[in-house]
Amino acid sequence: MNLVRIDGDPVCLRDWNSALLSDLPDLLDPTRPWHDTNGPYFGRMTEAEAAEQVRRTGELAALPAIERETPRRRLAVMETATGRLVGEVSWYWESQETDWRRLGVLIYDETCWGRGYGTEALRLWTGYLFASTDALRLDYATFSGNPGMIATGRKLGFVEEGRFRRARRWAGGVHDSVVLGVLREEWVERHSLPDVDGWPDPKECTEG
Ligand SMILES: CC(C)(COP(=O)(O)OP(=O)(O)OC[C@H]1O[C@@H](n2cnc3c(N)ncnc32)[C@H](O)[C@@H]1OP(=O)(O)O)[C@@H](O)C(=O)NCCC(=O)NCCS
Repeated sequence: MNLVRIDGDPVCLRDWNSALLSDLPDLLDPTRPWHDTNGPYFGRMTEAEAAEQVRRTGELAALPAIERETPRRRLAVMETATGRLVGEVSWYWESQETDWRRLGVLIYDETCWGRGYGTEALRLWTGYLFASTDALRLDYATFSGNPGMIATGRKLGFVEEGRFRRARRWAGGVHDSVVLGVLREEWVERHSLPDVDGWPDPKECTEG
């Protein structure tokens, strides 16, 4: 069983490991600006929730590859040039009964925004999920107050499939809820699928 490693530039995706954890508390800090656009209408992450996420990520990072779910639910986004943690990608079931997965992309470090990191992370993550499942489609949900997230998918061939007008009314503002999706055949027409075999897990290597 291998650890997942999807190479890209300027970012790559990696299975969580303990070396990535030291920067996580600072990156999850509730005062960071990423909380303003990452589903802010669901409520801002508290310090206790951030600490709990660090703890759960630590548990995940400690698991040998053989005990990790395939396809992975979450991967770390690392800056290729430096190897430092800058974000994460994830997915959840919108409807497991009908095999409908929804993606999440988060570049925690605001100094990296607008430099192609989000687009590359979404490209690698979408490719990984199409390569490791037989999903017919993938999508993500965002809102009109997050033009960067909308532009990121469009650049890669995601199309706007749904716009729920004025569905996000909170904190004195009103925004549309927006869903962008891509079909498998549309994706493979534009992008190659990655090798998802990854790296051997050092914890599972035996001598000789
Ligand atoms: C949204 C996010 C993933 C986008 O990633 P990014 O690395 O900043 O975006 P990229 O540099 O890949 O840019 C992709 C496109 O979006 C455009 N874009 C980026 N930010 C933008 C903004 N604030 N307004 C308008 N367009 C923007 C870029 O111009 C680029 O298009 P171009 O190449 O044609 O110029 C990232 O900013 C992020 O994680 N933000 C905080 C958390 C979040 O909002 N996550 C998504 C929740 S749904």
